[in-house]
Amino acid sequence: MSGERGEYELVDPEEAESFGDEWEEIDVTDTEADRIARKRDREFTEFRKRIKDADQFKVEQSVFDDATLAALYKLVQDGHVEAFGGPISTGKEANVYEALGADDRDVAVKIYRINSSNFRQMRDYLEGDPRFEGIASDKKAVVLAWTRKEYANLKRARKAGVRVPEPIAVERNVLVMELVGLVEDRARRLAEVQVNNPETAYGVVREYMRRLYAAGLIHGDLSEYNLIIHDGELVVIDLGQAVTVHHPNAGEFLDRDCRNVANFFSRQGVDTDGDRLREYVTAVEPEPQGEPPEPDGADPVDREE
Ligand SMILES: Nc1ncnc2c1ncn2[C@@H]1O[C@H](COP(=O)(O)OP(=O)(O)O)[C@@H](O)[C@H]1O
Ligand SMILES: [Mg+2]
Repeated sequence: MSGERGEYELVDPEEAESFGDEWEEIDVTDTEADRIARKRDREFTEFRKRIKDADQFKVEQSVFDDATLAALYKLVQDGHVEAFGGPISTGKEANVYEALGADDRDVAVKIYRINSSNFRQMRDYLEGDPRFEGIASDKKAVVLAWTRKEYANLKRARKAGVRVPEPIAVERNVLVMELVGLVEDRARRLAEVQVNNPETAYGVVREYMRRLYAAGLIHGDLSEYNLIIHDGELVVIDLGQAVTVHHPNAGEFLDRDCRNVANFFSRQGVDTDGDRLREYVTAVEPEPQGEPPEPDGADPVDREE
């Protein structure tokens, strides 16, 4: 994205690619990281020691199990991460770190904890999602599926023309994505800043909600805490819990998102409310997504590549 973007300008629809059905590939069986963790080769043992000794990971020593460290190791080996930086955030389910990625690019590394305090709630979100039918109910499988879901949701949102962090890699319970802003000039949550031109900002958020909905997704936790801003650009983050419009609670999630967003902006002086926002967002029917291919072999969903 260029730095030339004006205040709260929408991402160009031309930058958005066509929809894919990337989540049909989701597989949460044993990963290479699990194999590395089991094998414990000498290099991994050294990496593990280095990470465990690193200041920024001190607090998490107990929550980062060997398989998580192996996932980080794999991401380093694959060149997605060059060096780890400090923590940006410690949430209920995940910790976010800044890191140096490939080609001198700053990245954000989101590490979901296998022993997440929100495990049960995560399972409930996954259970109603047709993309995750048949996911086992043990903690590890749920958290791994959740991480892949966030990656898939970011991809889908991007294709729909919604400005989200570019997903770069996913390995087990670790997601690497574009760092919005810079290490030395980090993006702020909408909740933390003085919003200039709330009308314009609202127009952008509302359009992104509509595009997401048209692509068959509902964010599910949208508010001024999951919208970040950098250099006049608004970015939607935290799509782990986003569900498809087929989810049994989709309507409820959409209502809540609309209420949160409309309330925030009406406090900034914009004349709106949840109902009006919902009407705007749902004015376009969502495209059929994730359904099995037609019996005659015709595939209604554009494929990637
Ligand atoms: N790609 C990113 N670029 C910059 N900051 C980020 C990025 N992803 C997350 N953050 C920061 O980390 C915080 C937590 O990330 P989020 O995905 O919302 O996780 P949680 O599920 O813990 O809320 C965000 O509020 C934001 O400040
Ligand atoms: Mg969040």
